[in-house]
Amino acid sequence: MTGAVTRHLRVSPRRLIFGILAFTFLFTLYHISPLSNGDFGRPVSIWPVHVHPPPRPHRPYPPPRPENPGWNSEAINWPGRAEEVKRAFLHAYHGYEEYAAPKDELHPISNDGVDNFNGWGVTMFDSLSTMLLMELHDEFTRALPLIQRQNFSMKQQHAPPGRKPPPAYAPFFETVIRYLGGLLSAYALSHEPILLERADELATKLAGAFDTPFGLPAFGVNTETGNYSAKHYTILAEIASCQLEYSYLAKVTGKKEHYDRSAKIMETLEKGNILRRYGMFPTKWNIMSGEPTSEGLSVGGAADSAHEYLLKLYLLTGKSDTESLKLYIQTANTILSTLLYVSSPRGLLYVTDVFPIPKPSHKFEHLSCFLPGLLALGAHTLPDSAFDIEIPAPIIHWKDADELGLYNWKELHMLAAQGLAESCYQMYEDQPTGLGPDEVLFRNGELWVKKLREWRERGRKGPPPGVFAKKTHEVASVVPDYDIRSQKYLLRPETIESIFLMWKTTGDPVWRERGWRIFKALESETKTPSGYASLYTVSKPHSILQNEMPSYFLAESLKYLYLLFRDDDLVPLDRWVFNTEAHPLPVFEWSAWERKKFGIS
Ligand SMILES: *[C@@H]1O[C@H](CO)[C@@H](O)[C@H](O)[C@H]1NC(C)=O
Ligand SMILES: *[C@@H]1O[C@H](CO)[C@@H](O)[C@H](O)[C@H]1NC(C)=O
Repeated sequence: MTGAVTRHLRVSPRRLIFGILAFTFLFTLYHISPLSNGDFGRPVSIWPVHVHPPPRPHRPYPPPRPENPGWNSEAINWPGRAEEVKRAFLHAYHGYEEYAAPKDELHPISNDGVDNFNGWGVTMFDSLSTMLLMELHDEFTRALPLIQRQNFSMKQQHAPPGRKPPPAYAPFFETVIRYLGGLLSAYALSHEPILLERADELATKLAGAFDTPFGLPAFGVNTETGNYSAKHYTILAEIASCQLEYSYLAKVTGKKEHYDRSAKIMETLEKGNILRRYGMFPTKWNIMSGEPTSEGLSVGGAADSAHEYLLKLYLLTGKSDTESLKLYIQTANTILSTLLYVSSPRGLLYVTDVFPIPKPSHKFEHLSCFLPGLLALGAHTLPDSAFDIEIPAPIIHWKDADELGLYNWKELHMLAAQGLAESCYQMYEDQPTGLGPDEVLFRNGELWVKKLREWRERGRKGPPPGVFAKKTHEVASVVPDYDIRSQKYLLRPETIESIFLMWKTTGDPVWRERGWRIFKALESETKTPSGYASLYTVSKPHSILQNEMPSYFLAESLKYLYLLFRDDDLVPLDRWVFNTEAHPLPVFEWSAWERKKFGIS
């Protein structure tokens, strides 16, 4: 290359400039291409990961988006936007305090309260970490004495006269992620000892849920008798999304029993090589046998946070729980090769579920929109060597899965994150309300890995498939790519969460602007005089509202929006890990004594 430039220099300066430009163009093209794949053919490193390779030259991936955004990020008052989100939070929380407390959640239309999560005031517990990050110290101070008084006893169940009331159970999963996660995160952010006391007490009262033959937590538990509910068939998300909370609790209390509860779940999940069989954990389980009861695979509501916690347990424990990392990499690769599809004609990348294997339903849930953020978080925080783990091929043979082996793992994960986040956002942009539906059904789609192979065989011309979806008006077809299956918008956070993580991991300001458009839609479509309400249908502006304001709206949706607009890094991704309810927990390392005491290898 240098020789060619020198020769051109002797010919004419204009050619030199042309030469330099051409060189720069090709150089950039090579280096921004996620497919430059410089690591192809590198020997596979051995497990466990302990060597951190030298940092690689910075490559902006995924590739920069082609279109001009039409707005200038520098000119926008981002801190002012963060303040607007804080005002929205105060509007919602003050409405809750005024009309619903001490009940669980606000009815934002009838202005009263409802007990739907044990009646301990879930909105207050779920809002604590957001208050602390927003520096809302008055609200936090008002909450502390109420938390101090809460004893987590079961509310009396009502029954018709003469009948025995049904047994009361606290739903284990929701209680852990909202109440326990909320307390632990607020403790980490404030160091108020009462919060840790309450967390320890609550976790101890929930302990009966683990009294199953294989330590998988039951669906519900009575916090007074310790009895657990008789429902034996349960979903993956509910049995495997408490390891972050119980591990951190063990760290800060020094109690082995909390650690053991988390460790036992991981042990049972790994028993019998279940993940090896499918490449990821199936969605339905029997807690009595400790085994899956179906072959369905999903990242939607039945499974979501169980996959999420595999990566996050590794990150939370200072990148020490390498078994959990191994399960994550294996799971993510199975998701990439078997659950991702590309629609036509717009080329939207979506994640669906399969049941029976390998039959795709082509359903795409709003709940699955946490996945792009998770993939981006993994690509951003894991060392390159993590992606070199020798992964045994699943026993089930997935067609075209070998294609993934031809790409750099980390960049492939980032491409999938980019494509999925794009689709999750387009679901919002496509609706007249600017808010996305709860579930859609794609009419037709092709496996992403198959499209990748065709693209590679054609010489990798143009952007990779599924990464930059077309908008409706950019395609000739009048037939939509998808039909809406559930019109509702339930104030859910997943798309906002992924937008926040895409902004943090790529630095592309388009994600911030998109988050702002969603916030404006929330303000115009869902706000009521006392709070915010779920939307009955996303395809008609100013449509009917539902009389509910879930506590996750304050815990997650508004927190991620606030952090998206803050110019500083309040919650650095290498020092904090968000639980699945967006409560940040600090990264820690086990001391030598803790390893000995808890039996951590
Ligand atoms: C827990 O608190 C509730 C409400 O304040 C009270 O009615 C109940 O008696 C308390 N239970 C115990 C065991 O202290
Ligand atoms: C709890 O379980 C025990 C036996 O397992 C049973 O005797 C008792 O009645 C149960 N208590 C309630 C309140 O259901």
